[in-house]
Amino acid sequence: MFDVGGVSLPRPFKVRRLGHFGFNVSDVDKSLDFYCGLLGFMISDDIDFAEPGRYPNPEVFEGVGSTIGAFLRHGTDHHSFAIFPRKALDAMSGGEVEADNSINQVTWQLNSMDEVFRGNQWLAEQGYFIPRIGRDTPGSNWHTYPVGPEGVLNELYCGMEQIGWQGKSKPADMYHSFTSPPELPHIPEYQEVQGDEEKGRDSSEGYRHRERRETAFDVDGILLPQPFKIVRVGPVRLFVHNMAETLDYYQNTLGLTLTESIDFEGHSCHFLRANTEHHSIALYPIELRERLGLNPLSRTLSFGVQLANYRQLRDAVDFLESEGATVIYLPAELSAGIDYSAFVLDPDGHAIELYCYMEQIGWNGEPRPQEQRRLISGVVPKNQWPQTLEPVSDEFHGEPFLGPWR
Ligand SMILES: [Fe+2]
Repeated sequence: MFDVGGVSLPRPFKVRRLGHFGFNVSDVDKSLDFYCGLLGFMISDDIDFAEPGRYPNPEVFEGVGSTIGAFLRHGTDHHSFAIFPRKALDAMSGGEVEADNSINQVTWQLNSMDEVFRGNQWLAEQGYFIPRIGRDTPGSNWHTYPVGPEGVLNELYCGMEQIGWQGKSKPADMYHSFTSPPELPHIPEYQEVQGDEEKGRDSSEGYRHRERRETAFDVDGILLPQPFKIVRVGPVRLFVHNMAETLDYYQNTLGLTLTESIDFEGHSCHFLRANTEHHSIALYPIELRERLGLNPLSRTLSFGVQLANYRQLRDAVDFLESEGATVIYLPAELSAGIDYSAFVLDPDGHAIELYCYMEQIGWNGEPRPQEQRRLISGVVPKNQWPQTLEPVSDEFHGEPFLGPWR
């Protein structure tokens, strides 16, 4: 047992939430049009993997095309999502990357430096391959990157840079990067910034997002470029080959809690949470991918983005379809703990799940009995959704959005 903030836990950390997620994509610019222009993510920084000094073997980038990726945010976290150039990232991996593995990372927030770096040591002792440790920039979050089953890179971090009222990220000359664990205790970020400013560095020099569209929509009283606002990211839904091994990793290595398992046409699917959300990650047998008609080049069933409310969810579907995006629907049973949802396809065919309500799990750990949920069965497209909903007991509960919507 390990002492985590004075509490005995079976591992030296506790995952608090899904922090961010990333895809490796075929064309970053096209993806930015989709994720920023249509979904409303903002760019907090870009990154050139081939810039001098960033990667020790820059010769791998010969012939891969663009080496530039982007960090995106929906709120004040420096990044809640990332898109990186697939060919460059595959070249950096140093090995064969399976054609359907376009996941850049599945990333979990811990709450202290001790948790991250004691966690790193504990994971290393168990033999996990950890390709990166330290503090990445942009983002300045302290982290360890244990590779999970089936080549899925997971990250555990703390201390994500926060973007404030100026909407500007930390400038590069104020980065304090680490490629190995720091000596603890480390000085606080406040002191780092103070020291840099005393050296004459200008904290207002950082990147600021440029809007791609007019702020044309009245969204619950504020003008936004899209008729909805993303207020939270996740869940991540993964297709897996070896369910027992993957479930064991997320439950027993990362310490997530199994909320619910369902049987879908003879296939067992599992929903796990970090906090009070019904699930932040869900695992599905790979055989379901073909049955559902989903992209054979993605083992991500979907990446979820929670919108602020039901009206916005309905407006989002209309808006995305009017912009020519493909919106699909999947059997509601696959999204236990979420009721109305639609999936919009990104330029690589990744399904992005749009929804607005997630069931919350309380002290006794029990999900709501099925018969007390909003009853939605099978594939229910938006034209069959009700105009308005009667509230459930945990309507609008869960992680609140902090700060202005944009
Ligand atoms: Fe990350």
